[in-house]
Amino acid sequence: ERGHVLVTGGAGYIGSHAVLALRDAGIPAVVLDDLSTGRRAAVPADVPFVEGDAGDPALLAEVLERHPIGTVMHFAGSIVVPESVEKPLAYYANNTLASHALVEACLRAGVGRFVFSSTAAVYGIPGTLPVDEEAPTRPINPYGRSKLMTEWMLRDAAAAHGLKVVALRYFNVAGADPAGRAGQCSRAATHLIKVACEAAVGRRPGLLVFGDDYPTRDGTCVRDYVHVSDLADAHVAALRHLEGGGEGGVFNVGYGHGSTVREVVAAVERAAGAPLSVRIDGRRAGDPPELVAGIARITRTFGWRPRFDDLDTIVATALAWERRLLETVG
Ligand code: UFG
Repeated sequence: ERGHVLVTGGAGYIGSHAVLALRDAGIPAVVLDDLSTGRRAAVPADVPFVEGDAGDPALLAEVLERHPIGTVMHFAGSIVVPESVEKPLAYYANNTLASHALVEACLRAGVGRFVFSSTAAVYGIPGTLPVDEEAPTRPINPYGRSKLMTEWMLRDAAAAHGLKVVALRYFNVAGADPAGRAGQCSRAATHLIKVACEAAVGRRPGLLVFGDDYPTRDGTCVRDYVHVSDLADAHVAALRHLEGGGEGGVFNVGYGHGSTVREVVAAVERAAGAPLSVRIDGRRAGDPPELVAGIARITRTFGWRPRFDDLDTIVATALAWERRLLETVG
């Protein structure tokens, strides 16, 4: 019985929360991570850990031989949009080619299910909001294209070889495990809530708001911020859906409503109990004014219900984690 889950990138931010969600659900996991951005300490001691590349065929064959893996959750990958513009081939190698090797290894070893970490970046600048899964995919950067190519590859492998595939298109992931067991550790963070929390604990002097002249309610960009633990739960829900014989497909993961940059800053100030030093800067290249997920499909198909759909909760958990990092890592 192949009941174990291989979690690539399980030492990273989102992957480590998925490992906790699997563990909380009593589902055995094995982590494969090259520790290029992840941390060994993010993986619980009782979860088998393999250090290495998720696109290494020999290593994959060995891991899939040694453990009774029935499902792969594929988190490993590169995620920084501006970096993808500067180093596109690195993104196609790390995201698309590694995924190809992983899918091939799955087919060879008889792994039947695959849950892929995709992104709202596949939509580019959406024509209608909220954006649902039937919207056209027109990514505007190599990062989005490298993920979309993998979605296509998986869809074709599903049709030809019967692999059961769920691709989850994440919107803006933020926050940390409410029990303080995991959080985001990136050394050079760029994501708004992480950056604002770093400013709140004094790790950086302040933050820049990239553009306040967008056609939105307060002039700053709107994003659908989703708590990382709700996203982790969505992976467990996807697994149960596939194990129960459900159809694969692509699914947005968000809350269906958004917050502006100013609203996020205000929430961090409330949580910290002190004002942040904020400067208005010019627009950042490639930022869509508004990105909000249509979530009818995931709620209907998986029965997924978010537990932390509240900006103050997201920010409070992110800030608590940031304070803990400051105490433990310095
Ligand atoms: N922002 C600031 N100041 C900062 C950081 C961000 O004003 O210091 C703004 C951005 O301009 C944007 C919003 O906050 O308007 C959110 O920016 P993030 O960098 O936190 O997140 P993105 O929306 O750019 O990125 C997310 C995912 C990507 C995905 C992208 C799709 O993290 O993986 O959505 O648009 F590609």
